[in-house]
Amino acid sequence: MPAIVLIGAQWGDEGKGKATDLLGSRVDYVVKFNGGNNAGHTVVVGDEKYALHLLPSGILTDGVVPVIANGVVVDIEVLFHELDALSARGVDVSKLLVSANAHIITQYHRTLDKVTERFLGKRQIGTTGRGIGPAYDDKINRVGIRIQDIFDENILRQKVEGALDQKNHLLVKIYNRRAIGVDEVVNDLLSYADRLRPMVADTGLVLNQALEAGKTVLFEGGQATMLDVDHGTYPFVTSSNATSGGAATGSGVAPNRIDRVIAVVKAYTTRVGAGPFPTELHDESGEFLRSRGFEFGTTTGRPRRTGWYDAPVARYSARINGVTDFVLTKLDVLTGLSTIPVCVAYEVDGRRVEEVPVSQSDFHHAVPIYEEFPGWSEDITGVRIFEDLPQAAQQYVLALEAMSGSRISAVGVGPDREAILVRHDLLG
Ligand code: GDP
Ligand code: IMO
Ligand code: MG
Repeated sequence: MPAIVLIGAQWGDEGKGKATDLLGSRVDYVVKFNGGNNAGHTVVVGDEKYALHLLPSGILTDGVVPVIANGVVVDIEVLFHELDALSARGVDVSKLLVSANAHIITQYHRTLDKVTERFLGKRQIGTTGRGIGPAYDDKINRVGIRIQDIFDENILRQKVEGALDQKNHLLVKIYNRRAIGVDEVVNDLLSYADRLRPMVADTGLVLNQALEAGKTVLFEGGQATMLDVDHGTYPFVTSSNATSGGAATGSGVAPNRIDRVIAVVKAYTTRVGAGPFPTELHDESGEFLRSRGFEFGTTTGRPRRTGWYDAPVARYSARINGVTDFVLTKLDVLTGLSTIPVCVAYEVDGRRVEEVPVSQSDFHHAVPIYEEFPGWSEDITGVRIFEDLPQAAQQYVLALEAMSGSRISAVGVGPDREAILVRHDLLG
């Protein structure tokens, strides 16, 4: 089972980092294929807690080759900062490979992210402010700067000049900000070249050769299905393809090489930033999920919006991604509830709708239709075998499995590395 994609099924923060870590040393390469340092993965190993943003979570496992592939947008300063912080804690970061074709997030992308959000006022997306959207904007507009460009000063200067020509008009005339100098940006980027050079590779070639040699490659998605620029709740999305198809375009490994698609899904739902969220709770149940699940953003610290499990969203994810296995996380957070509502369908304009509506306004107006499941009160964080879970917890998992369009192969019962029970081998 050599090529595995692991993605988020909801609006992010499902516990992808922990799921990647679970596969650990059985994987040879862990590839980040989309997004940038908007991601935030918290992985708990023993007493140590790691918060990763730009680096794939596989970097925490000895022997794994972490890869930042072409589909990623890279803030080089953040990259170095994250590498230094991990090295200081004894993590071996020497194997990291960075695609020559990945795009760079520069100072002007970060500035533009912040000013455009401010300009949008009430219509803002609630981005992470890391420059992600503007960097992808330039990529699609064909005025982006790629990693390989910083090794050729002439080309770099021409490209930065071209990009700033447009940006400075915007910054000065529309947003009333100071113009950014070409030298400032070029010198900044050139200063990274020496340290970056040994990490840069044709990662598409490396990964295909690894697969030919029978190695196991895990593609770890940032963000999630409902934040995907094509399949998510547009325009309240990120600017990349966070769904399984993005693993192919974002890495240079063809779709027919991918053997398995694992979707990580929370036993309830959270969302950071603006946009539709049918099962959102504004009452004490929402507060219960937030405090018990510690639902605060890893990247921005913002409180996450919380709500019940949305089965149509999980089913939609199963369909869009070709999910073969779900990893259900944070079941332990629901302990103590007397009943647990699950959204099984929506009501839209008086009609029952079984699937996520294609129309943006229908999804905005979708009212969840709930089915109630009995809760449990026993502490489940120490359980490692499915049959040892309280009956009600087993029933809840089996009900979600029946509604969500694919089998649930592992269940998370706590933040620790070991706090997971495996029902079907994710690599077997
Ligand atoms: P990611 O962005 O998908 O990698 O997820 P985040 O790391 O942003 O958020 C998931 C949070 O839930 C992290 O703090 C994890 O340590 C934690 N977590 C993961 N799985 C479980 C679980 O099964 N139970 C509990 N209580 N916490 C979990
Ligand atoms: P992980 O990988 C949750 C959200 C932002 C905002 C929208 C666009 O940890 O699951 P962006 O900065 O990407 O332009 O913001 O996407 N967002 C995330 N929400 N988890 C993430 O990553 C996210 N990355 C971006 O809050 O609503
Ligand atoms: Mg996260």
